[in-house]
Amino acid sequence: MANVLPACLLLLLSAHLVRSVGVFELKVHAFRSARALCQRAVDCRIFFRLCLKHSQDVILPEPPCTYGSGLTEPFSADQISSSAPIRVPFNFKWPGTFSLIIEVWSAESSSEQSTENQTNLITRLATNRTLAIGEESAQEVHQGEQSELHYSYHVVCDKHYYGDSCSDYCRPRDDSFGHFTCNSTGNRTCLEGWDGVYCTEPICLSGCSKEYGYCETPGECQCRMGWEGPLCDKCRRHPVCMHGTCSQPWQCNCKKGWGGLFCDQYLN
Ligand SMILES: *[C@@H]1O[C@H](CO)[C@@H](O)[C@H](O)[C@H]1NC(C)=O
Ligand SMILES: *[C@@H]1O[C@H](CO)[C@@H](O)[C@H](O)[C@H]1NC(C)=O
Ligand SMILES: *[C@@H]1O[C@H](CO)[C@@H](O)[C@H](O)[C@H]1NC(C)=O
Ligand SMILES: *[C@@H]1O[C@H](CO)[C@@H](O)[C@H](O)[C@H]1NC(C)=O
Repeated sequence: MANVLPACLLLLLSAHLVRSVGVFELKVHAFRSARALCQRAVDCRIFFRLCLKHSQDVILPEPPCTYGSGLTEPFSADQISSSAPIRVPFNFKWPGTFSLIIEVWSAESSSEQSTENQTNLITRLATNRTLAIGEESAQEVHQGEQSELHYSYHVVCDKHYYGDSCSDYCRPRDDSFGHFTCNSTGNRTCLEGWDGVYCTEPICLSGCSKEYGYCETPGECQCRMGWEGPLCDKCRRHPVCMHGTCSQPWQCNCKKGWGGLFCDQYLN
């Protein structure tokens, strides 16, 4: 038993870890260099590497990239502006501050993106940044010793995640666990006829007695024991009561001129 529990926990944990809540996107707009980028001038290809970390005093460019990392495909050094963004998904509360490390590497061959050999590292920038969800960074420029890199980045929440750190979850549903949609701030908006924090409580027929009526689907009015009428606000008399009324369930209060336990005896 002692072995089973941690394994279960681990499984739960890893199932949780694969799901991301948001994504950091970096776009490289331009890269210029005064020196030759590649050893072999023919078909010179480069790629970019992004490493995101928690804010560090001294930013160490080496892994681990605690917030995630990513690479671009290698591409021809003079078609850089067409590069697709580097996307780094994350699965924690977006903290707003981070260390941003961008590296430019020359690719030995078009299919290879090795970051092993430091002689292929063309330039690197490492900087502390702050960025809120949804905010687009202005295009930033990094001036290296012999190069210039133009880039921008932003952070967006995944579908169904909201808030300042992408940690609020709202997914529309219409079943026994809730009947709602989500508004643009991730708040639940109940479907018509439903109420409550999770929109699980049906709204009964208008006027339905709060005390003696209830409903299981919107617009109904079902009566509790001893009550009746469209709004469940009328007491039920004793079942064999003949000429009587009630003010509480199961009573039989005789009308004028009638008597007996069930008001079935004419008194005159
Ligand atoms: C990065 O940010 C941290 C915390 O905000 C700060 O303590 C540190 O001095 C900064 N480091 C650099 C290199 O700017
Ligand atoms: C690193 O790359 C350079 C240039 O491409 C090459 O001359 C050198 O042999 C490589 N070093 C290693 C250890 O692979
Ligand atoms: C979303 O719903 C919440 C709570 O009902 C409300 O306070 C907020 O203003 C709504 N946001 C928008 C953008 O409508
Ligand atoms: C919903 O709205 C309230 C304010 O009406 C806000 O405090 C809360 O953070 C919002 N978001 C969620 C996901 O509940």
